[in-house]
Amino acid sequence: MSLINWIDERFPLTKVWNEHLAQYYAPKNFNFWYFFGSLAMLVLVNQIVTGLWLAMMYKPDANLAFGSVEYIMRDVDWGWLIRYMHSTGASAFFLVIYLHMFRGLMYGSYRKPRELLWIIGVIIYLAMMATAFMGYLLPWGQMSYWGAQVIVNLFAAFPFGIGEPLSIWIRGDYVISDATLNRFFALHFVLPFVLAALVFLHIVALHKVGSNNPDGIEIKKNKDENGIPLDGIPFHPYYSVKDIMGVVVFIALFAAVVFFWPDFGGLFLEPPNFEPANPLKTPEHIAPVWYFTPFYAMLRAVPPMFGSQFPGVVVMFAAILVMFFLPWLDRSPVKSIRYKGLLFKIALAIFSVSFVVLAWLGMQPATPGSTLAAQIFTALYFAFFLLMPIYTKIDKTKPVPERVTK
Ligand code: HEM
Repeated sequence: MSLINWIDERFPLTKVWNEHLAQYYAPKNFNFWYFFGSLAMLVLVNQIVTGLWLAMMYKPDANLAFGSVEYIMRDVDWGWLIRYMHSTGASAFFLVIYLHMFRGLMYGSYRKPRELLWIIGVIIYLAMMATAFMGYLLPWGQMSYWGAQVIVNLFAAFPFGIGEPLSIWIRGDYVISDATLNRFFALHFVLPFVLAALVFLHIVALHKVGSNNPDGIEIKKNKDENGIPLDGIPFHPYYSVKDIMGVVVFIALFAAVVFFWPDFGGLFLEPPNFEPANPLKTPEHIAPVWYFTPFYAMLRAVPPMFGSQFPGVVVMFAAILVMFFLPWLDRSPVKSIRYKGLLFKIALAIFSVSFVVLAWLGMQPATPGSTLAAQIFTALYFAFFLLMPIYTKIDKTKPVPERVTK
């Protein structure tokens, strides 16, 4: 104990422990959907640790990169495990985050007073996408090379003469090359630490306002004489123990994929990426990894204008940027889906189906039929956001109870 006292006199250890864990009161009605925040942190740590180990053996050189990954897979002790934990971890990260975001949509967690928490979340999501995109170039396989080629070329579609110089500036060359690989490696190494800093801010914002919950009720409105929320329980030990259970189940599922199905049928590691990058041979069908395909489908859904792909690029970026405005688009008097009306439930269902269908369409070769389908589902995706002020306003809501239910 004297050691703790010694530290406490110099550093607020006990104070922080109490304020953020032992005496941090979280709503007592958290459910399944509240596992994913802590799981996201676990996966971020997994990515940083396995990534650091990979970086010890990986060579960011266009002539050596592919071979160094094969060397890690075949010769380095446990290298295959580290690599599969990292590649499966990337997909797990997005899966966890999509579920985490969906929870936010269901329970209105983006609403006042959690707007900034949500906005930091969307910035995290953008940073995750940038990190994953640059990481995918590193094995220097066919899909790494051509995927990056397609996406960086999109920047060339920017008008006013800035497109071309911008894309050359990003690549450091006229095509994806050794210079691109080097800078993507540097950025891919540093961005996860930026992510960790953003997650810290995310938690600071969360602890300032407190968690939402499946009832969408502010537990701070009902406090006892000591100022403790009546519907709150200390995060530690109650939710630390609950989260450990989530971690155990997650690790079991994660290990099953890592050990038995690491390429996940070509979804987590695409077949063309087992071939070294060849700038002279375009693969028959270029598609990004599954977590990017909804946006890729939107990009392809928009026809070029005056021979420029720019409108598609705008729509693709708008699909993410529109998320920033969500807190102000929802005009419903209630937060949680439990007390919202049928209109919101239908809208959320259509939105979720559209996202999954777009993900699937983005993996398929474009045909006139699939392009039409992508156009319809892109419109439905945007309708969820843009019509929200209308349907949440006219929707019939249910009365919200004073105290949390279960
Ligand atoms: C590295 C990625 C992320 C990590 C590690 C992370 C972590 C967390 C944690 C630990 C919590 C509290 C526990 C929980 O409510 O599940 C939380 C809450 C929350 N996060 Fe995230 N998050 C991440 C990304 C995002 C993204 C991308 C969004 C949205 C765009 C988001 C939006 C929210 C919201 C709205 C809450 C409050 C939920 C509520 O109280 O109902 N987060 N996050």
